[in-house]
Amino acid sequence: MALLEFKEIEKRFGPRDEVAVLRGVDLTVEEGEFVAVFGPSGSGKSTLLNIAAGLDTRYRGSAKLRGRDLRSLSDRARTELRRSTVGMVFQMYHLVPDWTVQANVSLPSLFGERVDGAAARAREVLAKVGLEGFEHRKPVELSGGQRQRVAVARALFSSPPLLLCDEPTGALDNETGAAVLELFRKIHEETRAAFVVVTHDERVANMAGRVVTLGDGKVARDERREVRA
Ligand SMILES: Nc1ncnc2c1ncn2[C@@H]1O[C@H](COP(=O)(O)OP(=O)(O)OP(=O)(O)O)[C@@H](O)[C@H]1O
Ligand SMILES: [Mg+2]
Repeated sequence: MALLEFKEIEKRFGPRDEVAVLRGVDLTVEEGEFVAVFGPSGSGKSTLLNIAAGLDTRYRGSAKLRGRDLRSLSDRARTELRRSTVGMVFQMYHLVPDWTVQANVSLPSLFGERVDGAAARAREVLAKVGLEGFEHRKPVELSGGQRQRVAVARALFSSPPLLLCDEPTGALDNETGAAVLELFRKIHEETRAAFVVVTHDERVANMAGRVVTLGDGKVARDERREVRA
């Protein structure tokens, strides 16, 4: 069973649904893949990630996560499926400014079952991203690269098999971005979680086993490649 399966996804915006953004996207992501998604600004990349995460259910076609049709689930079941399956990383980190690093990272435990051991798990994932000892800082006391690492740690908290990343290096300088991508490479190697990374960063293409390009509301190219070490 595929981890993520889009069939003929169509998405429109506007008061009368007059703006067609996605016009028939077919895309399947298997467990453990590393997929880079390119496409011009406005081509619908973020829209597609929102659908994949079950955050947007107003589309046509079928979107399945782990074989389960996202739109036909109850809100509660869809949220539960997202929590157990998906970790998300955004361009602007989306951390809660007044919360400590530890609280931000263990945010998923606020909603899920797992509250016991949340602090220990937070320390574990913070160590994975090279931020041991940062538990009690606030986001404002961190650099952009460190904030993004906190966001990555939060995404890893529940050990999801799928990481959806929307321009994760978009707000970072070259060097800091490279370090975050190196972290992705390491996490992918260690956890074999699948990555879908929406990006304008050509370096992501070099580490991805597959490069998908959106254009005209569809998958314009879908290229598999050898990964350079
Ligand atoms: N909530 C919304 N209401 C109306 N139009 C929207 C909405 N969200 C997105 N759009 C439109 O849908 C199109 C695709 O947006 P999307 O954010 O998915 O693009 P993108 O490929 O992620 O672009 P970028 O590379 O700039 O992030 C854009 O034309 C955008 O204006
Ligand atoms: Mg976008």
